Amino acid sequence: MEKISENLSRYKNYNFITALTSVEYLDSLPSFEVRDSDIFLVTYPKSGTIWTQQIIISICELSGRMTEYPNNYEKMPWLEYRDDRPDYALRPSPRLFASHLTPALMPPDMKNKKAKIIYVMRNPKDVAVSYYHFSKALADMETPESFGSLFEQFLKGDVFASSWFDHIREWHSKRDEYDILFLTYEDMILDLKGAVTKLCRFLGRTLSEDAINQVVEKSTFKTMKKDSKANYEFLPKEKFSGHFMRKGQIGDWKNLFTVAQSERVDQLLQEKLGDLSLKIICE
Ligand code: A3P
Repeated sequence: MEKISENLSRYKNYNFITALTSVEYLDSLPSFEVRDSDIFLVTYPKSGTIWTQQIIISICELSGRMTEYPNNYEKMPWLEYRDDRPDYALRPSPRLFASHLTPALMPPDMKNKKAKIIYVMRNPKDVAVSYYHFSKALADMETPESFGSLFEQFLKGDVFASSWFDHIREWHSKRDEYDILFLTYEDMILDLKGAVTKLCRFLGRTLSEDAINQVVEKSTFKTMKKDSKANYEFLPKEKFSGHFMRKGQIGDWKNLFTVAQSERVDQLLQEKLGDLSLKIICE
């Protein structure tokens, strides 16, 4: 693990928040035993992870028996952070995991199993803005001097989870190797019920109309803001002094981006992602 800034370390070409994981644990991931019934939610940070986490958990809880845990972080822990939890091998199925990792860092066993991956992507301009506000509030992250300086770091990939462009491209180019569903934050905003229905179908869970409506209701911004098990307000204030549920909108980037910054992202999207960029709403 090579320290690259005050709070970030690089491991196998990927930037981790130094305080959140250890080389020993990351070294053990290649031998992580994946189960057919595992469900992985994968995102680049600030793309709607805890939102989709709430949706998947609600679907699983309403369609079968799930082990009781105190909050969503415990129900769907981050694959790359084991903290002091018991070994994940001891967890009953179905196990749910969240992750910000790239395919190269994922347990290779995932390719041989029927484990399901849900990958959520979001307009990188809104990701950068959300990341900017988040990094000011998380004690383990560097506080950017200004949005302009964070923007430059974001484009270079000198941030947590490295380059947004590489993350999206790598997962998309490997899509045939996994059982993977791609969703966008924007589609979820525009049609939450549609996204829930799509997820149920992908996960092979049959829910009644009434149960689908319950999942939708549990996952609205308004409900999650009040749901202490889902909104991460259970994190100690000295660790995180902001709100995961900040604005929850499409297009907040327009309040911070200059025209030139927006044009640079548009150009990079075309150069690095080509047609895929069209799938990600950038208006
Ligand atoms: P903003 O900072 O733009 O408000 P992540 O969970 O990957 O860290 O992403 C956090 C972003 O998802 C935040 O975006 C947050 O407000 C948004 N979000 C969380 N729950 C949401 C919900 N129920 N509906 C819409 N957006 C939500």
